[in-house]
Amino acid sequence: MIRQIILSFFLFSSVLTDNECPYGYRFYPETAICYHLSEDLYDFDGSVSYYCVTFKGVGSSVGIQTSQCYQQQYAFCKIVPNLCNGGIQNGSFGSIQSPQYPQQYYNKLMCLYYIYAPEGFSINIYFPQINTERYYDFVEIYEKNSTLYPDRIVGLSGNISDYEYRSNGSFLLVVFRTNYVITDIGFYAAWNVERIQPPIVSNATTSGELTSPNYPNDYDTFDNQIYYIEVIEGARINMTIDDFLTQETFDFLEIFDSMNQTASKRIARLSGNSVAPWNWLSTSNVVSLKFVSDGSYQYKGWHLMWNMVNRK
Ligand SMILES: *[C@@H]1O[C@H](CO)[C@@H](O)[C@H](O)[C@H]1NC(C)=O
Ligand SMILES: *[C@@H]1O[C@H](CO)[C@@H](O)[C@H](O)[C@H]1NC(C)=O
Ligand SMILES: *[C@@H]1O[C@H](CO)[C@@H](O)[C@H](O)[C@H]1NC(C)=O
Ligand SMILES: *[C@@H]1O[C@H](CO)[C@@H](O)[C@H](O)[C@H]1NC(C)=O
Ligand SMILES: *[C@@H]1O[C@H](CO)[C@@H](O)[C@H](O)[C@H]1NC(C)=O
Ligand SMILES: *[C@@H]1O[C@H](CO)[C@@H](O)[C@H](O)[C@H]1NC(C)=O
Ligand SMILES: *[C@@H]1O[C@H](CO)[C@@H](O)[C@H](O)[C@H]1NC(C)=O
Repeated sequence: MIRQIILSFFLFSSVLTDNECPYGYRFYPETAICYHLSEDLYDFDGSVSYYCVTFKGVGSSVGIQTSQCYQQQYAFCKIVPNLCNGGIQNGSFGSIQSPQYPQQYYNKLMCLYYIYAPEGFSINIYFPQINTERYYDFVEIYEKNSTLYPDRIVGLSGNISDYEYRSNGSFLLVVFRTNYVITDIGFYAAWNVERIQPPIVSNATTSGELTSPNYPNDYDTFDNQIYYIEVIEGARINMTIDDFLTQETFDFLEIFDSMNQTASKRIARLSGNSVAPWNWLSTSNVVSLKFVSDGSYQYKGWHLMWNMVNRK
């Protein structure tokens, strides 16, 4: 009967977010469990399979053991609180963070963050900084609803800066897994959807034109359009932008002097209304471009002409 009362107390009392435990319990970060010693006497049997147990002293050489049901003792109770802040997110953009970020996270976590993009969109997620116990506490990324090792795309631990991942499909699962000891501040990540757009390739010609999607009509929200121009080895690419209008800063065209879109190969990031006319002569025979737009303010975008220039 008394167990019944105590158990229903556990089941119906709400978990408080500021101290994570039901009223009267104390949280122990080392174990990530809430403990409570009753003020009244109870007569539980020796089972430890419930939330509460009673103990009795059995002499100085042995210490304590669980008590029999006819013996009244103080009850020692524990409860595993829900420490995770995961769940399902959808829409166009959002953010996730480890529990308590930027304070220390907890031990023994397994938090699941599900992100769903609309059909035809992928998800780009960016972690400015990750700090976890190296080799033991992980931020993991999956592209299916599975937390099995073979399905894991990446497991990040230790101190990592500027990590970005773009999904192939419209679903991402981020898992934050921590072991039983040592914590750090964890992570924060921002995500947004991007339209799944196959790259546009100009190959095997000596001149051409490229435009933003829908030009001269407004481009879409959440564009992420890649372009490649390749000419014969040894030649260069001369490109001229004669019309350009995008939302300043947030909708931009990046130009790379390479097939590889790395920061060291980026020669321009263009946005706003005062770009055109703009001209540039590549040093290599492969140039790539990336046009990105966000969720607000669409404009007509840009128009570009290019031609192959033989090296003298
Ligand atoms: C997005 O999430 C909200 C709240 O969880 C839910 O009501 C809605 O149905 C979801 N929409 C889609 C398209 O999954
Ligand atoms: C993920 O899979 C589990 C187990 O198969 C299921 O219970 C859960 O509802 C799924 N969650 C989502 C968000 O799809
Ligand atoms: C990782 O970052 C934490 C701060 O969150 C710092 O205390 C620790 O020294 C760093 N470890 C390494 C190996 O840089
Ligand atoms: C994503 O696509 C790339 C290129 O097609 C492929 O190599 C990779 O395995 C894919 N990743 C997942 C998780 O499907
Ligand atoms: C252009 O075509 C050649 C030959 O088919 C190929 O090797 C190269 O990767 C292509 N370039 C691009 C940018 O797709
Ligand atoms: C580059 O293109 C511009 C505009 O079409 C043209 O005026 C210029 O002469 C070209 N330069 C070279 C080296 O071909
Ligand atoms: C592109 O990057 C890959 C891997 O980082 C590298 O192997 C390759 O040589 C690079 N290609 C060019 C043209 O820079």
